[in-house]
Amino acid sequence: MVKVAVILAAAGRGERVGTEIPKQFLEILGTPVFVYALSVFEAHPKVSEIVIAVPPGWEEEVAFATKRRRFRKVAKVVSGGATRQASVRRALENLSSEAELVLVHDAARPLISEALVSRLLEAIEREGAALCAIPVRDTVKLVRSGRVERTVPREGLWLAQTPQGARRSWLEEAYRRAGDREFTDEAALLEAAGFPVCVVPGDPLNLKITYPEDLKLAEALLTLDIRKNLWGYLKDNPGKGGGL
Ligand code: CTP
Ligand code: MG
Repeated sequence: MVKVAVILAAAGRGERVGTEIPKQFLEILGTPVFVYALSVFEAHPKVSEIVIAVPPGWEEEVAFATKRRRFRKVAKVVSGGATRQASVRRALENLSSEAELVLVHDAARPLISEALVSRLLEAIEREGAALCAIPVRDTVKLVRSGRVERTVPREGLWLAQTPQGARRSWLEEAYRRAGDREFTDEAALLEAAGFPVCVVPGDPLNLKITYPEDLKLAEALLTLDIRKNLWGYLKDNPGKGGGL
């Protein structure tokens, strides 16, 4: 079976949420945000290894938190960089030599499902690189100084989510070629390097916690337990309370 590594990007400061503790470490329903996505990857049969990038100073606490919950696939917790791209690059350099496919996921997206990860992996195995995305639903306006400049045709516009991923060799090549140029996601890096990136249906509920109100929204969705399958691992391996 092809070996899949996951990079969990958890090294941001969460400035738009604005809490002292970065958003990915805040608790929702008693569980830190990053643990939700981690539990899906831990339980996924195709994932063999997980590397987490965290803000400098958080390495030990996060490593301890994952051990305490008996996440066996977390191979390393590394310190991230000033940008998401720098954080993912650090994690990529710390993968074991075995990994053949790499998925990258935002720790700030707790609402992924096993099915989403599976369909993304199938596309990567088949096509080499893929991301999940959803079609834009609303009418899109280009706005300047509070006034509509024009309406942008929605046709063909998609909103990128994570996870995203590629063959390891493609991703490493894309990161090499990017050099100092900054990109906001892996798909953009891969595109710029000339690799074709396939799109699979994402999930409208796979929100990225970005603003304070998103914490409430994520809590409401997790309370509804619509992602029941995602909880299995957490139910069997509950944390013991106190700290991360
Ligand atoms: N991220 C990262 N390293 C960085 C910046 C971001 O690993 N230097 C991660 C974040 O932890 C998050 C994901 O990338 O899981 C998406 O980024 P974003 O939502 O922008 O998070 P932050 O950069 O933390 O938030 P903000 O931009 O509001 O400061
Ligand atoms: Mg950011």
